Amino acid sequence: MAKSKSAYFCQSCGYESPKWLGKCPACSQWNTFVEEVIQKAPANVPDWKASGASSRIAKPSAIQDIAYSEEHRIQTSDGELNRVLGGGVVPGSLVLIGGEPGIGKSTLMLQLALNLPNLKILYVSGEESEHQIKMRAERLSTITGERDTYILTETSTQNIFKQIELLEPQAVIIDSIQTLHSAHIESTPGSVSQVRECTAELLKFAKETSTPVFLIGHITKDGTIAGPKILEHMVDTVLQFEGDRHHVYRILRAVKNRFGSASELGIYEMQGNGLREVSNPSEILLSQREEELSGITISAMLEGVRPMLIETQALVSTSAYGTPQRSATGFDTKRMNMLLAVLEKRCGFRLSVKDVFLNIAGGLRVEDPAVDLGIIAAIISSHEDIPVSSKICFAAEVGLSGEIRAVNRIEQRIAEAQKLGFEQIYISKYNQKGIDLRRFDIEIKSLTKIEEAFGFLFG
Ligand code: TYD
Ligand code: MG
Repeated sequence: MAKSKSAYFCQSCGYESPKWLGKCPACSQWNTFVEEVIQKAPANVPDWKASGASSRIAKPSAIQDIAYSEEHRIQTSDGELNRVLGGGVVPGSLVLIGGEPGIGKSTLMLQLALNLPNLKILYVSGEESEHQIKMRAERLSTITGERDTYILTETSTQNIFKQIELLEPQAVIIDSIQTLHSAHIESTPGSVSQVRECTAELLKFAKETSTPVFLIGHITKDGTIAGPKILEHMVDTVLQFEGDRHHVYRILRAVKNRFGSASELGIYEMQGNGLREVSNPSEILLSQREEELSGITISAMLEGVRPMLIETQALVSTSAYGTPQRSATGFDTKRMNMLLAVLEKRCGFRLSVKDVFLNIAGGLRVEDPAVDLGIIAAIISSHEDIPVSSKICFAAEVGLSGEIRAVNRIEQRIAEAQKLGFEQIYISKYNQKGIDLRRFDIEIKSLTKIEEAFGFLFG
């Protein structure tokens, strides 16, 4: 068999070497060498049509001459997934689904494979045996009607393409991209160059045959999809499946989507018989709190570009010692002290003789200043021992003179609060400019000073 030619390139300066090197002789950086294919093996290696359609030469076309019809989308029977994808699966799209181990990626995809009506689906697994997959499929009781799903346990992309040519599936699911390997590259499966090469081959297959391909991707400790960042650039859509493994709720978010909005999210509940769509998401946040307690508020924060609702808890109590204690978990202590000083100086609350403890629920760490107003409300709620309604959400920054300042991406935050079933959101008046608030059903209270918020909340 003819071998393809590959070489190692420094990712930092582009130095080429025939062998892998730990340190680049040109720029002295460590661990920057990555294998790349320079010349692919000829067609006798069954790559995706290695010699075929790709030799076609593209010509420029005038934009008005390009035939366009509204993209036909395949509707899955999973409403949450349809929404996250921007209204269904786009033919020929490459979708990457990332998430921690055990979160339910394989379950979600198998459920999809069994639930795409009237389509022939190929589910390729490099992680589990046919027997294991069958066992899992038997557990999923949500399955209805006829199905045309095939399981293949294979990790070589060349062999997968051979089977695809025989079977001609209408959608392909790969579990997972890190287990695949291509004969063009020598390095082990899961390495940067293998992941990139396998994705490139699948991308070519998806585009040339208009077959949607779903890739499951592992994530690293810091939460990014394992493998090169370039993977996220290559695919059309990146979905993140997240949640706490010890809780039943899972959130599917679009992190990137060429065919829809990147701010959509879908919510599922992991049950004994698979994932159930949660169509009324407020049940998650609200069911955990039966009675209203003082010192708890909810803020709409952003993590990167993704909106998220978090719970802030504050405890204000009379200090037993001369120096009051101030402690914050998941929040900057300096910023907390600043907010306390604002409350003391601008609103006259005597907090300097109080112990103040602050906790961001769920072990999160928050940097977003939009939680300021929620934190202040939690502190005063605990101080006055008056609960804040669990239907209220906050998203505003507080300035040194007690003014309520605008925050970025307010529409996304409002949309998230609305989606999660909140009835009111407190925002800055300055955020109202340029956005159409009428499209939201949630009641929006816009404020300029923190005293106004206290007026509304505590009478
Ligand atoms: P899995 O899909 O294997 O996760 P991933 O592919 O992301 O690693 O999900 C595994 C977990 O889901 C496992 O802990 C068992 C649980 N589970 C259920 O609770 N109900 C079910 O019906 C299924 C199939 C799995
Ligand atoms: Mg899995």
